[in-house]
Amino acid sequence: MAFSDDIIGWYAQNKRDLPWRHTKDPYVIWLSEVILQQTRVEQGLPYFHRFLLHYPNVQAFANAPEDELLMHWQGLGYYSRARNMHKAARAVVAEHGGVFPSRYADLIKLKGIGEYTAAAIASFAADEPKAVVDGNVFRLLARYFGIDTPINSTNGKKLFFQLAEELLDTGHPGLYNQGVMEFGALQCRPKNPRCGSCVLRLDCRALKEGRVDQLPVKLKG
Ligand code: ADE
Repeated sequence: MAFSDDIIGWYAQNKRDLPWRHTKDPYVIWLSEVILQQTRVEQGLPYFHRFLLHYPNVQAFANAPEDELLMHWQGLGYYSRARNMHKAARAVVAEHGGVFPSRYADLIKLKGIGEYTAAAIASFAADEPKAVVDGNVFRLLARYFGIDTPINSTNGKKLFFQLAEELLDTGHPGLYNQGVMEFGALQCRPKNPRCGSCVLRLDCRALKEGRVDQLPVKLKG
């Protein structure tokens, strides 16, 4: 599909060199994704390195005392993330023999792993064809297709998830998912999107209609 090909082509040329993009280890990808859930990349990077140094695998993470994990987490906020990670790591040891799962169906059962994180790990680690839908993807799709259905409404969620699944490049799910997220972060930015240099500009409905700064629509409350 033209959309997916453009995204993957753009990603090859423009991606940031980030450490979790050099691994297929689902444990390492999980670590990066949970750290980045409510944290910017620049802020999360030192924590990612620190956790990997202290806990190189899921057994080490599961065996760590919780107060030690929380100490290393200091400064990141949302401490429930670290507590949920501890529970998830223990479940991986108890129920998966210490082998971190890479299948969506197994991942979604672990504490602190929702639809987004399960799709990210399954597609990056094992190329399972699951579309990631995060804030970057909502924004990109809302603008490109000119969709003003609120992204946090029941209808909107259904619509955007369905569209994301249709657009997914099932030949390269991991690459495509990294690509759409990176595109949303660097190109189709919330403020000051770089429409002038955008590879999708000729087909972008919002740009054509002068509505880029009005999309996506989000309901208050
Ligand atoms: N934010 C969340 N996941 C990310 C990833 N894999 N790369 C860059 N930023 C992210």
